[in-house]
Amino acid sequence: MLDVTALRENHSRRYSAAPTVYAAPGRVNLIGEHTDYSEGFVMPAAIDFATLAAISPRSDRQIAIYSENFGEESVFDLDYLPHHPRHHWSDYPVGVLTILHKAGIEPAGFSLSLHGDVPLGSGLSSSASVEVATALAILGIHPEGPQFSPPEVARLCQRAENQFVGAQSGIMDQFVSCCGAEGHALLLDCRDLSYRLAPIPSSLGLVICNSMVKHSHSGGEYNTRRAEIEAGTQIIRMHRPEVNFLRDVTVADLERWGDEMLPEVLKRCRHVVTENLRTVAAADALERGDLQTLGRLMAESHASYRDDFEASCAEADILVDLASREPACIGARLTGGGFGGCTVNLVRATEAEGFGRRMLEGYLAATGIAAELYHCQAAAGARQVWLPHS
Ligand code: GLA
Repeated sequence: MLDVTALRENHSRRYSAAPTVYAAPGRVNLIGEHTDYSEGFVMPAAIDFATLAAISPRSDRQIAIYSENFGEESVFDLDYLPHHPRHHWSDYPVGVLTILHKAGIEPAGFSLSLHGDVPLGSGLSSSASVEVATALAILGIHPEGPQFSPPEVARLCQRAENQFVGAQSGIMDQFVSCCGAEGHALLLDCRDLSYRLAPIPSSLGLVICNSMVKHSHSGGEYNTRRAEIEAGTQIIRMHRPEVNFLRDVTVADLERWGDEMLPEVLKRCRHVVTENLRTVAAADALERGDLQTLGRLMAESHASYRDDFEASCAEADILVDLASREPACIGARLTGGGFGGCTVNLVRATEAEGFGRRMLEGYLAATGIAAELYHCQAAAGARQVWLPHS
């Protein structure tokens, strides 16, 4: 658990000002992978790993940002903010500030302290949690400026990541960080951002296994996959001009015109088209308590992610395979952008401890790697957690 009091006290000491503190969670995606940027469906949950942002206004035109995780401060002059990413942790808060400025916030100086416990680079959206916590903090010290709803904050943070940081990610991570609800998964329609919350039964534990591998080509592969999806969409569009995104494409379309695509493009598209169907079906199954169907859909999703989208890796496949042999495990799959990172496991809560122990042992024996295990709860979305004098 993050220590709000410690961050608050450190901030007060560092900047001689009492801060307001905001928290924004990371996320785990239960199903719906690489579907968000073609206006499809996703079903993530916010988790109880988060980033805290403590903020206090300043009277000069300086922006001081301190990262407790990196033990480092970055200072900027508001009138000379960098226009390009520096490939540094400060790109995320600076990107958010830049986008909020473009959206009509006239920024004044501030001091910001960030501290998070979302494991970095493991597919649990540490960057989205930094962006959303920063956005709430900056908006909080500009109460006279334009007001944004949580989905609008998510869009602004996605824009910061796309336009400033330079990653072409979709809306899922920022959206669930803003709008997640305790004890619930969130089925999001990425076309119009409508969503519904599905309770995760308290009899189920959310166990995340971190494979501790991140294949180095992962950054580029994300954008390659996006390009392949766009190439496939264009081919269908030649036959059905009303198709703008893969969301509009059916399995029958792929059967009819798929042979005009490169074989790997067809496979990528097949993953996305079938994943949308699985995701909607999984939300229905969760809502009616049909855990067997939910588990089957998660297994099919993993197989599709591995064989058609080719975004899994040997280590993640081992984790999913080990989990599938556990009777207490309802469903397991690789979660997040792919090429390493974490698997998500829905496990009968009473047996989650033993499940975790055996997963660690089995994975160590198979790979020689010590995995990390996180027993999580589906958590609330971003919010204020401390007001000075409160
Ligand atoms: C990353 C991106 C998301 C989404 C997933 C894959 O987490 O930030 O927008 O595309 O990968 O589902």
